[in-house]
Amino acid sequence: MYSTLITNLNDGILTITVNRPDKLNALNKNVFDDLDKAMDEVYANSEIKSVIITGSGTKSFVAGADIAEFSSFKKEEATHLSIRGQQVFFKIENCPKPVVAAVNGFALGGGCELAMACHFRICSENAKFGQPEVNLGLIPGYGGTQRLTQLIGKGKSMELQMTAQIIDANEALQLKLVNHVTTIENLLSKTTEILTVINSKAPIAISKIIDCVNIAVVSENNAVSGYEKEANHFSDCFNTEDMKEGTTAFLEKRKANFTGK
Ligand code: COA
Repeated sequence: MYSTLITNLNDGILTITVNRPDKLNALNKNVFDDLDKAMDEVYANSEIKSVIITGSGTKSFVAGADIAEFSSFKKEEATHLSIRGQQVFFKIENCPKPVVAAVNGFALGGGCELAMACHFRICSENAKFGQPEVNLGLIPGYGGTQRLTQLIGKGKSMELQMTAQIIDANEALQLKLVNHVTTIENLLSKTTEILTVINSKAPIAISKIIDCVNIAVVSENNAVSGYEKEANHFSDCFNTEDMKEGTTAFLEKRKANFTGK
């Protein structure tokens, strides 16, 4: 049914597993198309009460947007990429049924952004979080500038994005980026346990909690301008020499040499 996802519906809980393990589950166009379709199914299918999003294997949740796919993009294609990613992630964030990220390893760049678009996050002890786009001469483009700031506050959000620092599960817990840390073996069972409690409650009330909490976190007007600004600034970076250098250096497995141009 999906080329990049494995889905499994059990007791009202749909588990969506991003499945590109040879690329550490990086988000390419097909993953976005599949996630979009899977979320349409979640909205439409009354047998689905809640959702877990996770990554295949034990090394990576999602290691970011697929750098090889966008490295040669021009500004216009980059704008489209950012807006498309933002749209799919809004569909997750605004889903009337609970969507929880079970973070089983690297959640970097677009992977951290995917986790943050979910209603809350549970991770395994080996999980690693970060927005390392600046290493590529870029900024987050799928809502990360907005949601990281909402979740962990302005100062830490600025620091993590500007340094590209990768944090471990315990620091993510301390910063309230995740709600619980567990072993890799227990990650899905712990997430299922919490969703089983939620699934026993009144679904209409649950959907109204999601709607109200989303509005409490950010007023709609600010959100729109913040996400629009992010998409514009993200695509502006594609006109820079530093972005070409950053993505080429990643693909050539070497350190980037930035010149400010
Ligand atoms: N996009 C495309 N390919 C990616 C990727 C990404 N975001 N992240 C990992 N991969 C690919 C690697 O290119 C490699 O492919 P190859 O085997 O064909 O060379 C494969 O996945 C395994 O990754 P590798 O880097 O060899 O694993 P590692 O254990 O040495 O390092 C990471 C793991 C996560 C630290 C490293 O892959 C990384 O830094 N990834 C990019 C993170 C990032 O910048 N994300 C934000 C993107 S906007």
